Amino acid sequence: MHIVFVLLFCTVIGIVSGKSITITKKNSSASIHTLPFPNSVFQHKIRGRETNGTFVVFEAAYLNEGPGYHLHMKDDELFYIIDGNVQFIVNGSQFCASSGDYVYVPRFVSQGIRVYNPTNSTKPVKIQIMLFPSGLDNFLDEIALIYNEDRTNSTAINIISQKYGIIDLEPVQWKDLHCFEKTST
Ligand SMILES: *[C@@H]1O[C@H](CO)[C@@H](O)[C@H](O)[C@H]1NC(C)=O
Ligand SMILES: *[C@@H]1O[C@H](CO)[C@@H](O)[C@H](O)[C@H]1NC(C)=O
Ligand SMILES: *[C@@H]1O[C@H](CO)[C@@H](O)[C@H](O)[C@H]1NC(C)=O
Ligand SMILES: *[C@@H]1O[C@H](CO)[C@@H](O)[C@H](O)[C@H]1NC(C)=O
Ligand SMILES: *[C@@H]1O[C@H](CO)[C@@H](O)[C@H](O)[C@H]1NC(C)=O
Repeated sequence: MHIVFVLLFCTVIGIVSGKSITITKKNSSASIHTLPFPNSVFQHKIRGRETNGTFVVFEAAYLNEGPGYHLHMKDDELFYIIDGNVQFIVNGSQFCASSGDYVYVPRFVSQGIRVYNPTNSTKPVKIQIMLFPSGLDNFLDEIALIYNEDRTNSTAINIISQKYGIIDLEPVQWKDLHCFEKTST
């Protein structure tokens, strides 16, 4: 009964605000697109064009490196750890996160993720990344082109980062929080 009311409420809100309701099946034509970051793979799950620009979802698989310290000027970011152990730094505070955890980072807040793989496990850490509004799906496409052509061209990478409001910050001094002791091989 409550669920019906919630659905009705959401539908009404959807109509009033002019937003579309999005249902994306796992095998939709838009879902799979792989980007060749070194040791990382990104898959588009829901593109901005499917959500009228309101949000975007992709899945990241990191083998032994995560995104360095940076911040987003244009989007709020919600992480869901699908599988694995990672160490976060958010607004200067460091903490561990593992399978099942959510981490929400609003725009303008500095963030970074450490993925540590001393045993050279071939099993990547998987994170679902949701951003509000959309835009970063296009960033991934543009960055992928650069990585294919010349991944050492930092000028080109900086131009694209600037366009999408991503500010790189100084490298993180990671603390030893023992986040990775339960890493499986
Ligand atoms: C898409 O968003 C614009 C404003 O950003 C709105 O005017 C329009 O009604 C939306 N369309 C749908 C189908 O939700
Ligand atoms: C859906 O995608 C998965 C992963 O790519 C694939 O294994 C599966 O066969 C697909 N299923 C259908 C019905 O296309
Ligand atoms: C980030 O940390 C600073 C200083 O500790 C604090 O003033 C600020 O409120 C924090 N920002 C957020 C979004 O939590
Ligand atoms: C992991 O790979 C690095 C670089 O190839 C190598 O130096 C290191 O010995 C490897 N570690 C293990 C536990 O195999
Ligand atoms: C690097 O990228 C910039 C901007 O796209 C381009 O102008 C420059 O020619 C590139 N440099 C090299 C060495 O390819």
